[in-house]
Amino acid sequence: MRNKIKELFLHANHQFISGEDISKRLGISRTAIWKQIEELKKEGYQFEAVRRKGYRLLNNPDDIHPERIYEGQATEWLGKEIVFYKESISTQQDAHELAKNGVGHGTIVLTNQQKKGRGRLGRTWFSEKGKGIWMSIILRPNFSYQQAPTITLITSLVLVEALKQVYGIEAQIKWPNDVYIQGKKCAGILTEIHGEQDQIHYLIIGIGINSHRMTYPMDIVHRAISIEEIIQAEPKRATLIQAFLQQFERDYERFEKDGFVPFYARYNNALYGKGRKITVSQLTQQYSGSIVGIDQNGYLLMETENGKTIKIASGDIAF
Ligand code: BTN
Repeated sequence: MRNKIKELFLHANHQFISGEDISKRLGISRTAIWKQIEELKKEGYQFEAVRRKGYRLLNNPDDIHPERIYEGQATEWLGKEIVFYKESISTQQDAHELAKNGVGHGTIVLTNQQKKGRGRLGRTWFSEKGKGIWMSIILRPNFSYQQAPTITLITSLVLVEALKQVYGIEAQIKWPNDVYIQGKKCAGILTEIHGEQDQIHYLIIGIGINSHRMTYPMDIVHRAISIEEIIQAEPKRATLIQAFLQQFERDYERFEKDGFVPFYARYNNALYGKGRKITVSQLTQQYSGSIVGIDQNGYLLMETENGKTIKIASGDIAF
């Protein structure tokens, strides 16, 4: 019943709904409505009650509007400016435009719905309205092209650690940067670089997280999972974003100073599928073997059938 009331208010777009109306629609008494609203208030929902008009939802605890993220946010430069769109084609596309127009290092684009989210290798990223976190971080780095792939590894690592910190979830990383929970994908990262020769003008890290249970398309339904399915409760998106941004800012600064070396052991701890047999596909080649770990450059170490350990710089893993 509480979920039905919640849905009613979320769809009312902050307009008043009378007690009579709710009572008719849901077939419950006015006292029952009042009790449910008191319970929702304990969860962090805020209501205004006006005689003869009814109730109006002021905010909900899972609101990802920038104000919710700025509130109590302790970062120094990351996410100090959040550009929020209720709906977007792709936050990557938005971020490229903003970056070309000169927005600052650490600006974030965030949306509540993507019409055509972009995934790695030309795939699309399923983004059902209100059911995920879709954001792109604009960075103006001091490091070189060669170092750029490892910042993507660090992004997935920070996300795994934030999931543990906020929800107690044991997530893992499928090399190079897919976040897996219970063997299914919960989040993906797409890094795009704009620059020339050896100079990066800007770098955009796109992060897509399945926060809420979704109606996944058939082709991914067996491979995708959301935070809600794991914790069996509604996840607070703003809290996860805040935890992620705080840790990412610290780790990004460390990476600019010391490179990837301080991170590779932490990453190996979170690596999914150690010891398991895999095939790595690249554009023109395929390698088979089992996962050993990653090295100090972020390369995947793989033991082939003849006992040799080889290094893979990029590719797509299949188990
Ligand atoms: C992957 O294929 O695993 C990477 C998915 C990245 C999706 C995110 S959602 C936010 C940002 N905007 C996009 O269009 N794509 C990235």
